[in-house]
Amino acid sequence: MPERIYIFDTTLRDGEQSPGYTMNTQEKIRVAKQLEALGVDIIEAGFPIASEGDFEAIRLIASNIKNSEVAGLARANNEDIDRAWEAIKVAAKPRIHTFISTSDIHLKYQFRKTRDEILKIAVNAVKRAKGYTDNVEFSAMDATRSDWDYLCKVFAEVIDAGAVTINVPDTVGYAVPEEFGRLIKYIVEHVPNISQAIISVHCHNDLGLAVANSIAAIKNGARQVECTINGIGERAGNAALEEIAMILRTRKDIFDATTNIITEKIYPTSRLITSITGVSVQPNKAIVGANAFAHESGIHQDGLLKSKLTYEIMTPESVGIPKSSLILGKYSGRHAFKDRIESLGYSLTEKELNSAFKRFKALADVKKNVYDEDIEMIIMDEIYKVPEKYKLAYLHVSCGNLTVPTATVKLEIDGNIYQDVGVGDGPVDATYRVIKKLVKTNSKLLKFSVNSITQDMDAQGEVFVKLEEKGKIAIGKGADTDIIVASAKAYINALNRLEFIKTTKE
Ligand code: KIV
Ligand code: ZN
Repeated sequence: MPERIYIFDTTLRDGEQSPGYTMNTQEKIRVAKQLEALGVDIIEAGFPIASEGDFEAIRLIASNIKNSEVAGLARANNEDIDRAWEAIKVAAKPRIHTFISTSDIHLKYQFRKTRDEILKIAVNAVKRAKGYTDNVEFSAMDATRSDWDYLCKVFAEVIDAGAVTINVPDTVGYAVPEEFGRLIKYIVEHVPNISQAIISVHCHNDLGLAVANSIAAIKNGARQVECTINGIGERAGNAALEEIAMILRTRKDIFDATTNIITEKIYPTSRLITSITGVSVQPNKAIVGANAFAHESGIHQDGLLKSKLTYEIMTPESVGIPKSSLILGKYSGRHAFKDRIESLGYSLTEKELNSAFKRFKALADVKKNVYDEDIEMIIMDEIYKVPEKYKLAYLHVSCGNLTVPTATVKLEIDGNIYQDVGVGDGPVDATYRVIKKLVKTNSKLLKFSVNSITQDMDAQGEVFVKLEEKGKIAIGKGADTDIIVASAKAYINALNRLEFIKTTKE
């Protein structure tokens, strides 16, 4: 019987807290539901004491998720633990995750406490959490730079106090696989009551070893892995969920271990994170990068044509990457469109589907080949629709090597049409300056990025824009076969989102 490995996803906590990955409450709920559909065992929804907004988002996630456990993070003190419980108590399966450092470096410079004092704090924290739920996890922060015997002593006492999961974080990404594997084995052999708890690992990627370390830990007795979608997280990130799941699936011969992950939902989940945060994964990223299944070399292509076994260790379909073939065109019907959306792993409401179908038809009119990636872009737009205070009514841009870039923009604002004209350093700059003037926004443009969705000359450009106003962040997306129109749409989408955020409680 293969060993069951529990997947603890911390995309919404360790991932979301890293710069550039902020999400709003609705986005967090959407991600949590996707993680549940993906088969994640435990969703770490956030750090409830961090802010009112975080608390509310965690509470809403807890009340929306039924199959996965929902964890709330708490430092080892009563206030944090009480707050974490308040946020997650409505969950079908709540978990309190409390932590404190155990390394001498942290004890001396950060906590200014002795080992005995830290041990007492850890035990009291677990007892406090245990008063609320049996499902308590304890993390020994900076475990990999801690004294191994002290670490084992802390683990033994927190297990006695009621912790059912003990987590071994490589907080600063310092460990290497052979050493980390040995540490896990040492814990198995030197914590007398270890059979009463699950060993978890939480690896950071500072040396690019987060996944390798997690895998070495599994080989030596860890049964829970903490990870994130696309490997996002503090600094260089956390271990990537998709890599762990696919290593265990592809190399069953070595690990004889399984997860509950429905691997065919990996790619849609990765795309969801990219589309919400506006941060793309690198093209050569394992499993979910644009080139992960692209065979460019002639020798490889020749082999693949003869047999897939020659160069393919897993199929793109096994991780939910749609076959990059021409699939629909302007004569395709609603039924085929709906089928395609479902096979891509998304489900839309009837209203979203109708609106997406209209947009697909409009795109098929101007673009000969409509690919899965184009359809995904339409889906994302539908999913993330917000009320449209601002609408692009007309855009004309003139530019060239000897022309001052000039944009004429007509915007519909609350149903009325406003028009202006302006110049800029380039066509996008000119367009953005006019939109900014018409909307009278004080927001700051933090990020602008352009990608091509597919590879033809008539490919759609996908633009992400990030705006900030008084600490509120909004991400906008736009896609069009005309890159300047896509840029205008992305900016207007971000402005609408900012307006939405300002006018809702969030
Ligand atoms: O990296 C770390 O140590 C953490 C803990 C809170 C588990 O994120
Ligand atoms: Zn971490």
